[in-house]
Amino acid sequence: MSLLVAKDIAIHFGGVKAVDGVSFSVEEGEVFAIIGPNGAGKSTIFNLISRIYPLTHGKISFDGKDITRLKAHDIAQLGIARTFQNIELFDHSTVLQNMLMGRHTHSRTSFVENILFTPKVRQQERDHRKRVEEMIEFLELEAYRNKMIAGLPYGVRKVVEIGRALAIGPKMILLDEPASGLSVEESQEVAFWIEDMRRDMGLTVLMVEHDMGLVSAVADRVLAVANGRMLAEGTAAEVQADPHVQAAYLGTAPAGEPA
Ligand SMILES: Nc1ncnc2c1ncn2[C@@H]1O[C@H](COP(=O)(O)OP(=O)(O)OP(=O)(O)O)[C@@H](O)[C@H]1O
Ligand SMILES: [Mg+2]
Repeated sequence: MSLLVAKDIAIHFGGVKAVDGVSFSVEEGEVFAIIGPNGAGKSTIFNLISRIYPLTHGKISFDGKDITRLKAHDIAQLGIARTFQNIELFDHSTVLQNMLMGRHTHSRTSFVENILFTPKVRQQERDHRKRVEEMIEFLELEAYRNKMIAGLPYGVRKVVEIGRALAIGPKMILLDEPASGLSVEESQEVAFWIEDMRRDMGLTVLMVEHDMGLVSAVADRVLAVANGRMLAEGTAAEVQADPHVQAAYLGTAPAGEPA
């Protein structure tokens, strides 16, 4: 069964058709990449899935449930975590605190239970700590655990954001340009982590990425979009060889077709 199914999804901002009838499905355990030129609608697709934007049209289901009209915080509860293209962390909190905050969106105790700090709350806090410490170890962030986000190098902040998303314990993670701004070595590390997320954590990964080296290395399937519309779907090699995709990156029409 497909874990995520997006059917004919669209959002229009006034006259701008940011996403305009896109359909795809992501299988459980798959690494699925969305590529396309700047402004293609990739991040907007993520914002539709994570329910930050309402759909103008179409339907999204996850794990067999229709999530088209759910609230953003319900999405995290269902097991979809994400990172943001522009890194959204609390600058004046530590790495550990940021990762625990990701975890707290997942709390299953009531307000009253939290105030009374009941055994259930204490157990939950221990579970949060354990998961966060595991992710700190997985992403080799030990040296930064108690450092403030504001003073950290860009590459480290990107990794912390992945850690915060993983701390939730999701079924699926959405990564918006995990390699942008990273060095070649850092991008290779991201490729290894994505492989480990799939293999060791059983995660399904949906990523947006411009770095075709990374996409070719990790993605099972690739969807190319431009101007809010689908251009091609297939392996990284197939999609890169597609004349519509090549034309979109060059800003021209494929040979023999009107512009
Ligand atoms: N909140 C919004 N209001 C109006 N227009 C928007 C909004 N969000 C996105 N858009 C427009 O939708 C289009 C797609 O934007 P989006 O950010 O999804 O592109 P992208 O494929 O992620 O590009 P990039 O590779 O540069 O990140 C752009 O034309 C953008 O200006
Ligand atoms: Mg984007």
